[in-house]
Amino acid sequence: MHLYPAGAADSADIELLLDAAFEPGRHTRTAYRLRDGVAPYRGLSLVARERGRLVGSIQYWPCELWDGASARHLTLLGPVAVAPDLQGTGLGKRLMRASLEVADACRHDAIVLIGDPEYYGRFGFDAAATADWDVPGPVERHRLLARLAPGVELPARGQLRAVSSVRAWMRLPLPIREVALAA
Ligand SMILES: CC(C)(COP(=O)(O)OP(=O)(O)OC[C@H]1O[C@@H](n2cnc3c(N)ncnc32)[C@H](O)[C@@H]1OP(=O)(O)O)[C@@H](O)C(=O)NCCC(=O)NCCS
Repeated sequence: MHLYPAGAADSADIELLLDAAFEPGRHTRTAYRLRDGVAPYRGLSLVARERGRLVGSIQYWPCELWDGASARHLTLLGPVAVAPDLQGTGLGKRLMRASLEVADACRHDAIVLIGDPEYYGRFGFDAAATADWDVPGPVERHRLLARLAPGVELPARGQLRAVSSVRAWMRLPLPIREVALAA
């Protein structure tokens, strides 16, 4: 089982994996509206392949928090998915740890997601910063989570949304290091 930076050639396999891992209708989820028209971060998004078969994927995207005056760049995590026959074997945790190590090295200082706090809490995510944010669709408040680097504070109120300008692209992560993937 090896982890690789996800590339454009992985897109079709990733979609098949997501179809297998999630219920039908996943495209209507609020998280998808946060990345409308946006491409995933190359270098940070990873795939896992076993003898060529794509069995795991984790994706990251630029998004932003608009506070009425300015837009604060954030990094959106998700989805993370593991092939149904390999769930519970530690691959999800491995994808999370390897990609978060790269995210930290590349100074992605505020990562947000919509997901189960019971799962993501172990990686440093909680709902403390997000209680009063607006989101473009229904969300259970306790599932809107953020992971902030030490000392980082975000606006208490704001609108979480897809990036509205090309500024976000200026924060592309550094090239991934092989040593990070070997972890
Ligand atoms: C969620 C998912 C990515 C986890 O990956 P995985 O390889 O199955 O999980 P791991 O083996 O790394 O970790 C297992 C641990 O996670 C916990 N866990 C798995 N899914 C969980 C969930 N939805 N909520 C809470 N805990 C969960 C297990 O209880 C186990 O806990 P333990 O370490 O305390 O025993 C995978 O199960 C999956 O693809 N699920 C379907 C898609 C999905 O729901 N994705 C997440 C939303 S974006």
